[in-house]
Amino acid sequence: GSVAVIVPAAGSGRRFGSETNKLFAKIDGVALWVMSVRRLRDQPCVGRIVLPIADADRDYFLVQHAELAESLGVEFVAGGDQRSDSVRQGLKRIEGDESVRWIAVHDAARPLVSPEDLQTLFSVVISSKAAILAAPLSGTIRRDLGSHTQTVNREDLYEALTPQVFDAGLLRHAYSHHNGRPATDDAELVERTGHAISIVRGSADNLKITYPEDLLVAEAILARQQA
Ligand code: C5P
Repeated sequence: GSVAVIVPAAGSGRRFGSETNKLFAKIDGVALWVMSVRRLRDQPCVGRIVLPIADADRDYFLVQHAELAESLGVEFVAGGDQRSDSVRQGLKRIEGDESVRWIAVHDAARPLVSPEDLQTLFSVVISSKAAILAAPLSGTIRRDLGSHTQTVNREDLYEALTPQVFDAGLLRHAYSHHNGRPATDDAELVERTGHAISIVRGSADNLKITYPEDLLVAEAILARQQA
């Protein structure tokens, strides 16, 4: 239980275009956020799981799904405007807990992360202090140089995924130095403090549900994972 996981779930999901939080959508009868949390809960090294949630969703989580959340061992905190604000709220909740040696951050919107990828990631962070799942790019990338455009060699390019796991002190330090300049993930904040980030090659199946059609893809991936 030495890894605490912050699972940001406080997004507005504007691109998903539903009335309610996209994380309440179900694949194979299970809400996305539940699937994400279950996969983390199944890892023996995971202890506390903190979910930053939006005020608008408090009733759903704290009243309608209180029992489920309790059985999953989830602690709720109020999220913030930006994803990093939500993570910061999660960090506050586990402040001072000396049993927490590593802190992982995992998008609630990535329900398909595999147990194998989680195990590899958690084993790597012990030696590197900062490790993230990342998938090799599959598309062809072109850079716009103004006067002309150019193909980018994709061999050394990766898409950053989550979870991203850090030595607890290192992540806390990064957030205490975060001056509000936007960052698209936690690894970028840690990197700004001068610490190297290790990449663990993960499966691209670990997609982030953003658009409604992503649910169809997720269902197909889930069926394959369960086969
Ligand atoms: O919007 P997007 O899906 O890219 O956000 C990634 C994750 O961060 C989602 O699980 C979302 O709920 C969460 N988030 C958050 N607080 C925000 C914005 C996003 O917890 N202010």
